[in-house]
Amino acid sequence: MSELRRAERRVRIETGEAAIAAAAALLRAGGVVAIPTETVYGLGADASNDDAVRRVFRAKGRPAGHPLIVHLADASAVSMWSHSSDPRVSALAEAFWPGPLTIIVAHNGRPAPSVTGERSTVGLRVPDHELTRAILAEFGGGVAAPSANRFGRISPTTAAHVAADLGGDVDLIVDGGPCGVGLESTIVELDEGAPAQILRPGGVSVDAIETVLGAPVIDGPGGPARAPGMLASHYAPDATVIILDAADRDAWIDRPATVVIAPRSLRCAAERLILLPDDAQGYARDLYAALRDADAQSGIDTIAVIPPRRGDLLPAVLDRLRKAAAPRG
Ligand code: TXA
Ligand code: MG
Repeated sequence: MSELRRAERRVRIETGEAAIAAAAALLRAGGVVAIPTETVYGLGADASNDDAVRRVFRAKGRPAGHPLIVHLADASAVSMWSHSSDPRVSALAEAFWPGPLTIIVAHNGRPAPSVTGERSTVGLRVPDHELTRAILAEFGGGVAAPSANRFGRISPTTAAHVAADLGGDVDLIVDGGPCGVGLESTIVELDEGAPAQILRPGGVSVDAIETVLGAPVIDGPGGPARAPGMLASHYAPDATVIILDAADRDAWIDRPATVVIAPRSLRCAAERLILLPDDAQGYARDLYAALRDADAQSGIDTIAVIPPRRGDLLPAVLDRLRKAAAPRG
């Protein structure tokens, strides 16, 4: 039996009612639990328990100082973590929660230092996933959770991805099916008295945020260390990723060591081809699984990706593809 198979056999996977009680009990005891969300699977621990959160960093191999998002059962739990009276917090929460938006605000000292990387702010989010919200409600606290992959790798969008990446290093994997959005949340920072700033594009568009706030936002993570842990290279498979224009694809499609990922309607004729939906939303949902599938094919060294052409999620898809294609090391 391979190392991987042996590791996978040790993994505990639960779903439904059984998962709710088991996950809440493990979280209370300082355990590490992989939870489904609508974006990607998270690797969760009690956000007020520094030892538990440190186990998450160890399991992922994530450097300390990269802050984690705290997941809440509903918007009323914000006041447990922040005394901010910024009206933009409730406006955004009302419009987009539960959903793929993380709001960064000043915290009240309750998050464990390892959650915030000793910053004065914390990222908060109510995920749009029934099973995980039931776990959060039963647990009663906040769950600090980065994506449930090894540091720098592709985020998991199924329980099987989590098992393959983290194996026996988690106490429990809650299987909530494949993630519906498929890319990590939009992150917006609210610094009182300053315009809102988008630190990471995701499932909630910049336009939608501006409409709710009635004011322009700063679109991008510029400024002094505004987005700790946002490295240029990220979300990376083993193979080299290149982003192709529909126009220059001919040079790549006949190369046996290349897998092409493309929108379905392009009718690309590559030998090794993974077709994704044409709209950015469907493309985003299936992209990470496609990158994993491509990476697992034998004898390949390159994944050539043709992005979708339209849709609200296009900026998020392009952001993740650029990070996957960025030089490593
Ligand atoms: O959709 C998501 O956001 C997923 C699911 C599991 O909720 N989580 C996720 O977590 O993508 P992670 O750790 O892979 O990415 C969180 C990012 C980090 O790169 C960090 O830069 C940023 O959130 N972040 C968290 N707290 C922050 C803070 N207080 N200030 C600035 N950036 C923060
Ligand atoms: Mg991540």
